[in-house]
Amino acid sequence: MLESAAPISLPHLATPELSLVVPSYNERANIAPLVAAVGAALGDIAWEILIVDDDSPDRTWEEVGRIAMTDPRVRCLRRVGRRGLASAVIEGAMAANGAVIAVMDADFQHDETILPAMYAAIAAGADVAVGTRYALGGGTGEWDERRVRMSSFATRIARALIGNRTTDPMSGFFMARRDVFAASIYNLSNQGFKILLDLLASYPGKLKVVDVPYTFRNRRAGDSKISPMVIAEFAFLLIEKLSRGLVSPRFVLFALVGGLGLIVHLLVLSALIGLKLNFLPAQVAALLVAIVFNYAVNNEFTYRDRRLTGMDFVGGLVVFAIICSIGAIANIGVANLAVEEHASWSIAGVAGAVMSAVFNFGGTSSLVWGRRRWRSAS
Ligand code: GDD
Ligand code: MN
Repeated sequence: MLESAAPISLPHLATPELSLVVPSYNERANIAPLVAAVGAALGDIAWEILIVDDDSPDRTWEEVGRIAMTDPRVRCLRRVGRRGLASAVIEGAMAANGAVIAVMDADFQHDETILPAMYAAIAAGADVAVGTRYALGGGTGEWDERRVRMSSFATRIARALIGNRTTDPMSGFFMARRDVFAASIYNLSNQGFKILLDLLASYPGKLKVVDVPYTFRNRRAGDSKISPMVIAEFAFLLIEKLSRGLVSPRFVLFALVGGLGLIVHLLVLSALIGLKLNFLPAQVAALLVAIVFNYAVNNEFTYRDRRLTGMDFVGGLVVFAIICSIGAIANIGVANLAVEEHASWSIAGVAGAVMSAVFNFGGTSSLVWGRRRWRSAS
């Protein structure tokens, strides 16, 4: 009989009990102190840390690699050509080896010294442990009043969505068993900053959530990446969850851009008619401007994670224009049908517009932005 192999006792090679997933973008100066602080905080708990870096211009990934050379508990997942906090966290969680996964920022705003208390909560039977700023013993630190108000407003909306399961559904600092992530993975939105909220809203079942208070600290080095876009993405996440996935954030953006395109069309049309152009050529020119406008704005915002550039941009524009032309025919067809069914002209018009929006969105999301490149690799 074979003797069973003795367990490897090198502390660095122990199977991790806890995987820390840390999204990073331009956090180079924070990495070494973070790894040291986490190690000091976790004591006996066998851990690994996965830094998911989106090819940071400051080469954060290089710094992680340097530390990983001497400490195999440290790993880097470098994503090229991609951006996004939520998707980084999800990919990190899927690559983690620990049975429990913690999500934490790289900038020291999350207090790593509560990690053992969070871990103990999970060990005692909680599904999720949330680092909270809004429970007794926690706090928002040195935030200005505006940020406090914004955050508490968003928190109230979020709690309306998921119920009073945690005092801080907007927290970016939490821990959960790996199977909680695994069970929610297909329902997560992958966009924006609000991964915990998404997880709580997406998990198909009841979760036992425990709050662990801490005080939000100031960023140690570097800058925050929060932007108006991040706030807009929060609104879209709410819409998606409230409509149970029917209305995707991308569709909302696409439809908004379409509305803007209509305004652009009318402005150009009135300007050209003011220049004494005939209606038909003016209408065609305005339509072309509106199509290019819609395409460029969608490429910049709606699909900024798959933005087309160079020749791909041109190829995408041609396909976009073709699909929108077919969409226009669908628009007219549906509106006509509605009128024939004795709908009022306004209802028929809206039906036509909804039809073409859905058609254009469906068509362009797969045929324009669905593939990475227009030119094949060969
Ligand atoms: N990989 C990757 N890709 N990481 C990113 C990206 C990205 O596109 N954007 C931001 N990060 C990383 C940052 O490097 C940092 O480690 C962490 O995500 C949080 O980003 P910050 O820019 O520091 O965000 P914040 O401090 O404004 O927001 C934090 O606090 C909020 C609570 O008010 C986050 O934890 C939010 O999730 C949290 O809701
Ligand atoms: Mn931060």
